[in-house]
Amino acid sequence: MSVLERLGMGLMHRMDPERAHGLAITALRAGLGPKAGPFTSDRLKCRLAGLDLPNPVGLAAGFDKNATALAPLYRCGFGFIEVGAATPRPQPGNPRPRLFRLSDDRAAINRFGFNNDGMEAIGARLAAHPHGRTGLNLGANKDSDDRAADFARVLAHCGPYVDFATVNVSSPNTEKLRDLQGKAALSALLAGVMEANAKLARPLPIFLKIAPDLEVADLEDIADVASTSGLSAIIATNTTLSREGLKSANRDEKGGLSGAPLFEKSTRVLARLSGMTDLPLVGVGGVGTAEQAYQKIRAGASAVQLYTALVYGGISLVDEITRGLDALLARDGFANVAEAVGTGRGDWT
Ligand code: FNR
Repeated sequence: MSVLERLGMGLMHRMDPERAHGLAITALRAGLGPKAGPFTSDRLKCRLAGLDLPNPVGLAAGFDKNATALAPLYRCGFGFIEVGAATPRPQPGNPRPRLFRLSDDRAAINRFGFNNDGMEAIGARLAAHPHGRTGLNLGANKDSDDRAADFARVLAHCGPYVDFATVNVSSPNTEKLRDLQGKAALSALLAGVMEANAKLARPLPIFLKIAPDLEVADLEDIADVASTSGLSAIIATNTTLSREGLKSANRDEKGGLSGAPLFEKSTRVLARLSGMTDLPLVGVGGVGTAEQAYQKIRAGASAVQLYTALVYGGISLVDEITRGLDALLARDGFANVAEAVGTGRGDWT
């Protein structure tokens, strides 16, 4: 981390976390972030559900909810970026405060509740950005009487401007959203999304994002539905409701927990799922070092995403993790990251 970044981080950690996040986006848009672009190598270049990526380290949904900082975020080194969640109509989300730092645990709790500018504003911003490796996290309005239809509407509207779309049924902050992970509800939901996808001039790879708080039987159901529904990948995982082992004062805030304490739980779910499906998996949850990105890949992930570690490690972490991952793959004799996928699954199951 540069001296400037360290100073900026020190200041931001004294602010309300949501304001600090807004400031970070403003700083990136003003050109204060890294400028090098993604680090790449023959070892790191990979394909994820048909997308060609310069490296497998992505930005998780929720950081650039409204697609306002895509170009500067790509310059920070991400191999791919997921924006959103976007809902059909704009919505304010839950009352503030709704984002909490758990510094002693290198974690965060959020209960944003899908605050976003809505699919029209977000679609217009995405349309102005070049295609290639940007995904959109689909969400449903809180007051919607047909949540499944909301996912399809956002896809129909924004689909032409992105390269993949994620059906997010795993946010803990929209009441009953997680119920859509059940077998019957999930099949019906995915059928609606696939119908909207088939109507696009360029149908997209559709990803499903799941919660870490699922039992083995739930994962089996999901793998089963995934195999027949036309999905292209599964993202494991979203934030957790668990509060195990935390020491920070904010640990009892309501919402989804992300960051370091989620690493083991989300990696275990990822590894289990990788034994149940042939679909490519994206590993998310607590990645903060190159070693952890590598562990996710060895547990079965074709690519990884991160968010909360940036709050503690700064944006230069992206480049650090990508270069470090390249070095770890080289150390272990892998010519390409794809060769390492799943080679350590046994350590987690
Ligand atoms: C998120 N996450 C998230 N996920 C999603 O599918 N849709 C969303 O809108 C959001 N929003 C969101 C906001 C905030 C403030 C956080 C911290 C997280 C979850 C995120 O994409 C990721 O799955 C988890 O945070 C776990 O990864 P990390 O943060 O431990 O690297």
